[in-house]
Amino acid sequence: MTKSKVTELEQKKEKIFLGGGLKAIEKQKAMGKLTARERIIALLDEGSFHEYDIFVEHDSHDFGMQNKELPGDGVIIGTGRICGNPVAVFAQDFTVAGGSLGHMHARKITKIMDYAQNMRIPLIGINDSGGARIQEGVNALAGYGEIFFRNTLASGVIPQISVILGPCAGGAVYSPALTDFVFVVDKVSKMFITGPEVIKTVLGEEISQEDLGGARVHSEVAGNAHFFAESEDECFAQIRKLISLIPANNSAPATSEKQQEPKKDYKIDQIVPLDPTIPYDVRNVIRSIADDSDFFEVMELFAANIVVGFGRIDGQTVGFVANQPAVMAGVLDCDSSDKAARFIRYCDAFNIPIVTLEDLPGYLPGIDQEHSGVIRHGAKLLYAYSEATVPKITVIMRKAYGGGYIAMGSRHLRADFVFAWPQAEIAVMGPDGAANIIFRKEIMEAENPEEMRKVKIQEYKDKFANPYVAASKGYIDSVIAPDETRRFVAHALKVSKNKTVLRPQKKHGIPPF
Ligand code: HXC
Repeated sequence: MTKSKVTELEQKKEKIFLGGGLKAIEKQKAMGKLTARERIIALLDEGSFHEYDIFVEHDSHDFGMQNKELPGDGVIIGTGRICGNPVAVFAQDFTVAGGSLGHMHARKITKIMDYAQNMRIPLIGINDSGGARIQEGVNALAGYGEIFFRNTLASGVIPQISVILGPCAGGAVYSPALTDFVFVVDKVSKMFITGPEVIKTVLGEEISQEDLGGARVHSEVAGNAHFFAESEDECFAQIRKLISLIPANNSAPATSEKQQEPKKDYKIDQIVPLDPTIPYDVRNVIRSIADDSDFFEVMELFAANIVVGFGRIDGQTVGFVANQPAVMAGVLDCDSSDKAARFIRYCDAFNIPIVTLEDLPGYLPGIDQEHSGVIRHGAKLLYAYSEATVPKITVIMRKAYGGGYIAMGSRHLRADFVFAWPQAEIAVMGPDGAANIIFRKEIMEAENPEEMRKVKIQEYKDKFANPYVAASKGYIDSVIAPDETRRFVAHALKVSKNKTVLRPQKKHGIPPF
């Protein structure tokens, strides 16, 4: 008797596991995509997935829906493990009504979101959906509203990870936009508020899904995606790596592992040229101080003039924020300020110490930036550093000019430790610009203005383009040799393990969003 019931259960499940049917699965595969269930299996530790709500059915009756079977209502939910860590997951099944979100589909997603929030474990959403199910009208919109609300409540409590693995439209991209990290795959991921069909109807314009919102567009131009992969498998490996680095929730300590020394290939004193005008790749500096030289970069392709990402020092996860002299001299602008501010807020919410590596000429001048709101965007960075109460350690490697000096985790925004290399230049602006302004009269009136300009530039350099004036005021704690950096940072991290600061009571601040 039991056996036949079990067989019946297996048969029911098998039917549901076929999703939208063999033809729809074939179409999915032809697009180079895995099915929703295959994706979950590939992402999680082997044999760890437990699925819930398999037998949920849709409850819509209009536009012929009453006669339609939508297995699992087009979404799979469950829990499993990644590198042994518990996670909650949902994956939309595009083979079932285009993964569109109806009332019961949304109920399944909100159920797993509530589990994740209550159990304080990361939530991973695999999105492959045409958005709100058009036939279900306001019920579908209500479903998205419930998801957005939960995304917002869970923000800063549990890590929320979104994976875009198909043509995602409408609400299917707004929920990811509220989450912490968005993963995309080349040629597979498409994100837009309204699809090409709607654009054609409303605006009369023809545009491909790829040009409208392909993986590269969101990684390089729009800044909506944080991780770019060439394949779904590479994407899942990236998610597993991220989960291994970040804490499971906002009251768990930052993760730690056995300490490993950086690789010998990265020699910190040979990476940064003494001449402040010569560029270099700051990621090599990070690799020279991170355990095993392992740096997991976030938003690698967007606003590359700043570099952010995770690594470990003495086994403990830290967030690195570093100016990138190899791109636009590492200048701060609207996009790089947004990128760094958001990353700092993530680290702060999840108790991850912040290590800042500084070498920049300041904020980017010009009409483009002013009209794009560099004041508002740049202020986000000041706000994020000031607001953060996790341990903050700053190393000034070369240039620290003007607003850039203040913004990049300065003592004045409450860095706990500020170290500077002997070649550091801390000044209101570069010596050339400064001399031209404050010695303009002397230069103009000199017999040989060019000679006088050189003399005055040198005078300014001798006075301010060094770390010792700042050190004499206690704005930096130690002037250190480049090859002492890892030791000083590691020690600073150790002594700030129990850092506690009290801030004024308030409901919340009003960052310059
Ligand atoms: C119901 C949908 C659907 C939807 C797709 N399908 N989107 N069904 N509601 N929103 C169905 C299709 O009818 C089709 O069913 C199947 O899914 C596959 O879709 P195709 O169009 O054949 O696939 P493709 O050519 O790859 O195009 C995918 C797409 C396109 C770009 C996503 O389907 C599309 O533009 N859909 C509408 C997108 C959209 O504008 N959504 C916004 C909803 S409003 P059959 O039976 O033929 O296989 C929204 C509000 C949220 O989400 C508010 C946020 C603030």
